[in-house]
Amino acid sequence: ISLKPFNTFGINAMAKHFVSVNTVNELQDVLALKAYKNRLVLGGGSNMLLTQDFNGLVIHINLKGIEIVSQTDDFVYVKAQAGENWHNFVLWCIDNNFGGVENLSLIPGNVGTSPIQNIGAYGVELKDVFESCEAISVDNYELKTFTNANCNFGYRNSIFKQEAKGKYIITSVVFKLSKQNHKLNVNYGTIATELENMQVKTPTIKSISKAVIAIRESKLPNPKEIGNSGSFFKNPVIPKSHFKKLAANFKNIPNYPVNENEVKVPAGWLIEQAGFKGKRFNNYGVHAKQALVLVNYSDAKGEDILKLSKLIQETVHRIFNISIEAEVNII
Ligand code: EPU
Repeated sequence: ISLKPFNTFGINAMAKHFVSVNTVNELQDVLALKAYKNRLVLGGGSNMLLTQDFNGLVIHINLKGIEIVSQTDDFVYVKAQAGENWHNFVLWCIDNNFGGVENLSLIPGNVGTSPIQNIGAYGVELKDVFESCEAISVDNYELKTFTNANCNFGYRNSIFKQEAKGKYIITSVVFKLSKQNHKLNVNYGTIATELENMQVKTPTIKSISKAVIAIRESKLPNPKEIGNSGSFFKNPVIPKSHFKKLAANFKNIPNYPVNENEVKVPAGWLIEQAGFKGKRFNNYGVHAKQALVLVNYSDAKGEDILKLSKLIQETVHRIFNISIEAEVNII
């Protein structure tokens, strides 16, 4: 079957075999099928670039459900199944006035893939609200619980991208959310400006979500209209000494401190300086409003987008001597 409806890049790659699982037991049964050891696990398909047909079994994780597992006066622990759409989960939290994920509104993808790359936006990362997750071992099909500390979360990184890569399938996530006295995060520059535009004087969970949605809609292409995977690259972290040299030549280079010795530079800025912003090559290109996002205008081939990403990496490296790393999984 075609995987086009199952990846937000809208790449028309074919899967030899495909199964959608609705329960943990079904998933365990599928994993036990000896004849299908070449597997690709698919959640929301929002962080992958398919560069060829897949000659094995695609397992679509379709586990659904959101429930409160426990609560105190201040906090509520909510368990969401892996196949829940991330933004629907955020809206559920906002409807219930549970705080913590409002800055993560409108991020494409599913709950089950959110810990893998520790999704983040507008000053908040998944790790700030992540309590634990359950995952199935692909070797012995047993469920294992990972606490926040177990996950080794970092910037767009976790154990599921490192030592545990390919070894577990996340089936559900428990979030720790605020019921009262929630500390709203309005520090990220563009949010404060957007709230002002919206004439919001006293921000709430709901108004922050609205502000984030407005910002994202103004910059990021809607995958339903233009195929994309959000940020294609990670923002590189470079030594301060390197940054100082660059800043001598490029006066306006944006940067965020990481620690005493390193700074993070927005890859979008580097790509824009390299001349790629808004560049279109036939049916694919670089988004005009955010250079970090590569787009598929219609029926582009994954391998063409991969080639473009390599050209961008080479050009950025030549100009700035900085290596930018893909954030999306290349399959
Ligand atoms: N910039 C440019 N040109 C561009 C894009 C950005 O000069 O084409 C500059 C901006 O002027 C600004 C800076 O880069 O000074 C930062 O831009 P922005 O606030 O748009 O954020 P970003 O660093 O480009 C990151 C995340 C996004 C997240 C936003 C907001 C990564 C790889 N990306 O982008 O995440 O939404 O911050 O928090 O960290 C995603 O991961 O898919 C994603 C969209």
